[in-house]
Amino acid sequence: MAIRLGDTAPDFRAETTEGHVSFHDWLGESWGVLFSHPADFTPVCTTELGTVAKLKNEFAARGVKVIAVSVDPIESHNAWISDINETQNTEMNFPIIADPDRVVADAYDMIHPNADDTLTVRSVFVIDPAKKVRLTLTYPAATGRDFNEILRVVDSLQLTTDFQVATPANWQDGDDCIISNAIADDQLEARFPKGHEVIKPYLRTTPQPNR
Ligand code: BEZ
Repeated sequence: MAIRLGDTAPDFRAETTEGHVSFHDWLGESWGVLFSHPADFTPVCTTELGTVAKLKNEFAARGVKVIAVSVDPIESHNAWISDINETQNTEMNFPIIADPDRVVADAYDMIHPNADDTLTVRSVFVIDPAKKVRLTLTYPAATGRDFNEILRVVDSLQLTTDFQVATPANWQDGDDCIISNAIADDQLEARFPKGHEVIKPYLRTTPQPNR
């Protein structure tokens, strides 16, 4: 069954390139990004895993652990890592789950048979410290993901969890935010000391509260 926003992320045990993982225990109190790729030793996937390795510090700075998965066996993942390191000028620094029995792929509905009946699509799940799924994305095999967009979404999720704001289209960390309509006009000054602007009664903005 498809995973929806707000669902508890399915727990699982799996072999990874960094040892056995019990997923919820591995996440601990962190946020998590679980993402699938179709297959090892394929070009787009090689660039994606190298890109995430280079962004590992950016994810860590936001309290996010990253973990990849495909249905390839552990021997294949381990052999592929040297190619990722060599071609992407990086050092792999996060685990890749081996899921030959499709335990993770099935739990997260990562195989879309009308796209490919054996390989995982490019799924992304952002999971919060309460183990709730906060974002799902699905990309086809031929389109590599923009992992800066995943970081941008994490920034928005963490901000909007802590403050009664939303983030507008194309928002970037540091930009103005939209004030929740749950906040009455007469509370704005107290709630948003950095100031606010009323553009329409339903469209009110404020400088980013946590910057
Ligand atoms: C790739 O990573 O390039 C790829 C993987 C599976 C199907 C198509 C492309």
